[in-house]
Amino acid sequence: MFVSKIELQNFRNYETLSAELGSGVNVFYGNNGQGKTNILESVFLCAIGRSFRFSKDADLVMNGRDNYSVSLSVGDDITNDISIKYRTGQQGLPAGGEKSARVNGLYLRRLGHLMGNLLSVIFSPEDLEIVNDGPSVRRKLLDIVISQIYPSHYFDLQQYNKIISQKNVLLRDFSTEKSGLSELLDVYNEQLSAAGSRISARRLLFSRELEEYASLKNSEISAGEQLSFQYYSNFFTVSALETDNFEDYSKKIQSEFDEILSSRKTREIERAHALYGPQNDDLLISLSGMDLRRFGSQGQKRTAVLSIKLAETLLLYKHTGRKPVLLLDDVFSELDETRCSLLLGSTEGFQTLLTTANLSELPRKVRDNAKIFFVKSGTLKLI
Ligand SMILES: Nc1ncnc2c1ncn2[C@@H]1O[C@H](COP(=O)(O)OP(=O)(O)OP(=O)(O)O)[C@@H](O)[C@H]1O
Ligand SMILES: [Mg+2]
Repeated sequence: MFVSKIELQNFRNYETLSAELGSGVNVFYGNNGQGKTNILESVFLCAIGRSFRFSKDADLVMNGRDNYSVSLSVGDDITNDISIKYRTGQQGLPAGGEKSARVNGLYLRRLGHLMGNLLSVIFSPEDLEIVNDGPSVRRKLLDIVISQIYPSHYFDLQQYNKIISQKNVLLRDFSTEKSGLSELLDVYNEQLSAAGSRISARRLLFSRELEEYASLKNSEISAGEQLSFQYYSNFFTVSALETDNFEDYSKKIQSEFDEILSSRKTREIERAHALYGPQNDDLLISLSGMDLRRFGSQGQKRTAVLSIKLAETLLLYKHTGRKPVLLLDDVFSELDETRCSLLLGSTEGFQTLLTTANLSELPRKVRDNAKIFFVKSGTLKLI
């Protein structure tokens, strides 16, 4: 799939923009702070409904305006166009503002239905956080790619997060004197165990595939070093079942989750907080048996992270039969020659939107075949 046209209004530093893209490599180059990353952000927004910088919608609205709109034309059998509109909270509107999305001209009742219409993977220097930061970054990585393949995962997460906040409020104000609270906790636990076991089952199964693909990519440029993942959870111990069947896994995980939630109910009440569930899951990343986060060198971490992103790209393609649009934000300045050729070799044939402050740092092969835009203060000029 490829984005053939981007139209922006009042988005970040773009008052209006209409740009036609090529189906291969598109380069956005210019000085710092001119709006290169903002272009990638607008495309990613149409893929998963929010900014990859996790900015609030109000921050995406051009300063001094009260709404933004992003529209993409897409070359694909299933998706032709996607648009997102947002208006800031003001009198008569909800405090968080109003956001709506359309796909192929049809209004989406829930924003989550965007998932899977535009497939996209973002590569950026911040990807090192996947190795260096806490578990939530790795859960997010898994959840974003899984939701694009299985939109139901996104709705499970929404449902789970809603109930876990309600459960935490209940646990905080829990009193054995008030009647009905213990029963309400049981109701919450039942709902959490249903959605939570599906969430962990998806992540666990996907992490195995990711390991397979990422370790292959990793070994392409670091012979002999074995990249491996171990899925960690504090509420189930399913190691391996006979099958790779999602339903079998979620059932097995659910029975362990039910058991923990009921046997540790008193403990959660004492601690006044939900202690067990996929909100604590993690993906432990090792290289040749050692914890990459603690013992890996910068170079080993960069190679691992690039391999993980490439694996994500290939798995999206494998599962959907559609090639995701790749967004490469300033990555070439960080890559040495070997990693650069791994990236280029693995992503040929995928539409790529890339940003750089310095055209000369791009490999010749990329420059020669690209559509190149010069970005200055929220305007694009084709060169
Ligand atoms: N809501 C907004 N309204 C107006 N301008 C904004 C808004 N949000 C960000 N900007 C402007 O957008 C510019 C940053 O855009 P962007 O992050 O795309 O830069 P860039 O070209 O990628 O720069 P770099 O090379 O430093 O990464 C800044 O000038 C910033 O002031
Ligand atoms: Mg940038």
